[in-house]
Amino acid sequence: MAIPTSRTKEPGIISVDPVKCKGCGKCVAICSDLDLELHEGKARPTGQGVFGCIGCGQCMMVCPEDAIRITGRFISPAALLPLPAKEQTAGYQSLLNLMIRRRSIRKFKSTTVDKALIDQVVEAAMTAPMGLPPSDVNLLVFDSREKVRSFTEDFCKYLEKIRWISSSWFLTLMKPFWGKETDELFRNFMRPLVDKYIDSMKQGENWVTYDAPAMIYFYGSPYCDPADPLIAATYAMLTAESLGLGTCMLGAIHPMIQNGSGARKFREAHGIRYKSREGIFLIMGYPKAEYLKGIRRSFASMNYSAS
Ligand SMILES: Cc1cc2nc3c(=O)[nH]c(=O)nc-3n(C[C@H](O)[C@H](O)[C@H](O)COP(=O)(O)O)c2cc1C
Repeated sequence: MAIPTSRTKEPGIISVDPVKCKGCGKCVAICSDLDLELHEGKARPTGQGVFGCIGCGQCMMVCPEDAIRITGRFISPAALLPLPAKEQTAGYQSLLNLMIRRRSIRKFKSTTVDKALIDQVVEAAMTAPMGLPPSDVNLLVFDSREKVRSFTEDFCKYLEKIRWISSSWFLTLMKPFWGKETDELFRNFMRPLVDKYIDSMKQGENWVTYDAPAMIYFYGSPYCDPADPLIAATYAMLTAESLGLGTCMLGAIHPMIQNGSGARKFREAHGIRYKSREGIFLIMGYPKAEYLKGIRRSFASMNYSAS
């Protein structure tokens, strides 16, 4: 048995070197799938895991003897990295400072973003927790303003063809199915947004992706947990910030390119491999404005559980 993803439907293969293994049991203790057990002072695969090895790799990471090999599911001992020293990691204050300084950026300098920086953003985003390994998050990278612009022009043309989704007759028809809140959001947010996107682009103004010099689309596969692309994009956003870039998440494009044959054609034309439940665009570039203050925000609610 194995948990399927778009990349593999096989479980990880566990092997333990009985010569190296000293039987400390750390791998057995850490495996959440009950894939390992101690037998006569050595670790060994049980063959009776709950789901089959998902390839999280934690047993390899805690083994002091390098006695465990997990292969398959795009993992192997070659994927192990030396662990950076704790003193070399960001502490709470420096992380908080980075977060307070971050703003959603919609006005960019004309400076381009080096490919090397985009690579660093992607490398760091790959460390994000992404559901069930191997990650089912896909990236479409736009490494120039021209590419971002051309994609956005195409998107606006496609949007014009499906403008009826924000028409009064369609919203009235749908209200009993999708409820009051969605109806309010469509009438007061989606409709003016779609109009603004289309009409501004006709005037040469890009209100969708703001002519950013770089952009990454994070999206899932049909197997993917919908949260995964968003978590990866959040990691990318903070990384970009640490590299001196400004960013903005864009949520409006993804839902528009999921359903119908026009959406499928649009995805195919732009090398988007899957229709997926969630996805998000992250634009990046050097901010035009200099911010002199941060801002305190709040959550909608926070209660401590009574039980
Ligand atoms: C999921 C998500 C989707 C977003 N979509 C858009 C968008 O389509 N266009 C845009 O200009 N900003 C978008 N934003 C940015 C928000 O508007 C922004 O985070 C918010 O105004 C708060 O500003 P701050 O990020 O500077 O704190 C999005 C943010 C998130 C988290």
